[in-house]
Amino acid sequence: MNTTNLYQQDMLVTKAHKSKMKNQTPKVLWFTGLSGAGKSTLANALEVELYHLGYHTHILDGDNVRQGLNKDLGFTDADRVENIRRMAEVAKLMNEAGIIVITAFISPFASERKMARQLIGENQFIEIFVDVPLQIAEARDPKGLYKKARLGEIKNFTGIDSVYEVPNDPDLHIKTDQLSIPECVKTIIKHMKLSGFRP
Ligand code: PPS
Repeated sequence: MNTTNLYQQDMLVTKAHKSKMKNQTPKVLWFTGLSGAGKSTLANALEVELYHLGYHTHILDGDNVRQGLNKDLGFTDADRVENIRRMAEVAKLMNEAGIIVITAFISPFASERKMARQLIGENQFIEIFVDVPLQIAEARDPKGLYKKARLGEIKNFTGIDSVYEVPNDPDLHIKTDQLSIPECVKTIIKHMKLSGFRP
């Protein structure tokens, strides 16, 4: 799309004003991991804890946005790229509104995770690898999707016939088969405190 005749409009009430108003430094906690790794469970548990600590957060979850804003997208590589591009843009907008955004997308491609980091900004972006071996994710199979994928009833399923590129250098590496959910939440909150979530 040609953007030649478009101009950036600067707003008078800035992100800094909104951040100050909320007494928090807006960040984006970008979860990535296989289906069944625990992204949504962990995002929810983290959000509850942050809510009680007085932070304003919002979760963007793959299953949910794919039933609304992104319902035109499927699971080809190109659609996943577009899914992550849009969600990185939405996360950026919410971040500019002063909110701590937690995203729960498989985000299987390293190039799209890098794109999201660059778009949102190195200082705002925290990549959290929600890691579990494929065999464990498949054994958990909370939605019965791995079973369907093995039977060929779902095509392009991550880890089966669609790639998941393991993050090389995530900001946080959480192994959900080795830590309980409260322990995972504690680890993330400790990292958040160290990286300054209060102005
Ligand atoms: S992606 O790869 O980041 O664009 O995917 P995402 O938006 O996170 O959507 C993943 C959820 O969609 C369901 N689902 C599938 N996942 C992977 N592959 C295929 N083919 C597929 N079909 C449906 C599934 O519930 C995923 O949710 P999670 O929470 O990851 O299990």
